[in-house]
Amino acid sequence: MMTSAEIRKKFLDFFVSKGHTIVPSAPIVVKNDPTLKFTNAGMNQFKDYFLGNQKAPWSRVADTQKCLRVSGKHNDLEEVGVDTYHHTMFEMLGNWSFGDPANPAAGYFKKEAIAWSWELLTELYGIPKDRLYVTVFEGDKDSNLPQDTEAQNEWKKWIAEDRILLGNKKDNFWEMGDTGPCGPCSEIHVDCRTDAERRQVDGATLVNNDHPQVIEIWNNVFMQFNRLKDGSLQPLPAQHVDTGMGLERLVRVMQGKQSNYDTDIFTGTIAAVEKIVNKKYTAGDSKTDISFRVIADHIRAISFTIADGQLPSNTDAGYVIRRILRRAVRYYYSNLDYKQPLLFQLVPVLAEQFQDVFPELQKQHEFVAKVIKEEEEAFLRTLDKGLKKIDDIIQQSVGKVIAGTAAFELYDTYGFPVDLTRLIATENGLTVD
Ligand code: SER
Repeated sequence: MMTSAEIRKKFLDFFVSKGHTIVPSAPIVVKNDPTLKFTNAGMNQFKDYFLGNQKAPWSRVADTQKCLRVSGKHNDLEEVGVDTYHHTMFEMLGNWSFGDPANPAAGYFKKEAIAWSWELLTELYGIPKDRLYVTVFEGDKDSNLPQDTEAQNEWKKWIAEDRILLGNKKDNFWEMGDTGPCGPCSEIHVDCRTDAERRQVDGATLVNNDHPQVIEIWNNVFMQFNRLKDGSLQPLPAQHVDTGMGLERLVRVMQGKQSNYDTDIFTGTIAAVEKIVNKKYTAGDSKTDISFRVIADHIRAISFTIADGQLPSNTDAGYVIRRILRRAVRYYYSNLDYKQPLLFQLVPVLAEQFQDVFPELQKQHEFVAKVIKEEEEAFLRTLDKGLKKIDDIIQQSVGKVIAGTAAFELYDTYGFPVDLTRLIATENGLTVD
């Protein structure tokens, strides 16, 4: 079985063999783009090349990028831990072509991107072809966008036609944010169910249907437009390729696991939590198991953002980190019955695991652990009172709604970010006004 490190390396080596330069991950914290606080996709650091504001120093690059998807257009926070394949922070493996009208041969577009993704997945990684489905953009009349027949025709060279599915604008037209580069995309999905399950229900019907075993692993975006503030689409000066594959999902497929958390990316952290709280993770859906997954996920997001220079605070990007951290604290406090700082103890485990790929954490692990411990201590001082308070509020709430004033008091006096209040409300069948 290949390790996650070997799987990552195979991706990068493959794209070197196709003429790509490997570049480092950009920091997860974005400092120079008013439309983003955190990197939410590998392409963010290349935005100006797509828009034609700057000329790219290379025509083909590949990397693994630390991404965070907890707010804004791409937000997976509510899914994390409850399911087994969404994360706050994840690694996005990507390859890019920056088109240059003066030198079109240096770049590539749909034909090569599609052929290479197929070659890598089926030949180098050996994923069985009969477990793969691909989607292409069906077009959108309202936006005056045609069906992506070019991608469809390229896929026909490689995969049976009944495995090429049409997808709508939501799934098959990728946009970085409310404005910025965008274009039709083609996703690759893997069916990880057992053979018996696959015989019973056609996998094609489960693609993009939130099935935990039929998951998207790779998105190939064909950048052609800039979304302007008024909502209109302006053609870009050149065409580009922007792909992103979730390493955690790919590793889960390659290691034959049912869950990302059963791969070697997460098992070390989960084992460390088991030891600290003296409980066992059983990969189920109990509150205990969800808490193990949330902690294993959130500590990565927290550690790497702090290592990249974003301290937790009460405003802006810093508050996003504080929210994630407080969410994790409440999970161990309430569900793992652990009442002291826990998260900071996991930093050395992560620092060692990622020292070859993201050495910035190893270099600062003592500082990062100290910041996290102080944050945990601060929240633990008011958490117990806050939990009692929210219990009272829930008992007294009229019509299954927590009033906005109560949510504010929880925020203001007890340090509950509103999404934590909302989470606890949901667990009790309530909503928040
Ligand atoms: N930008 C695309 C995505 O995030 C492909 O990398 O899915």
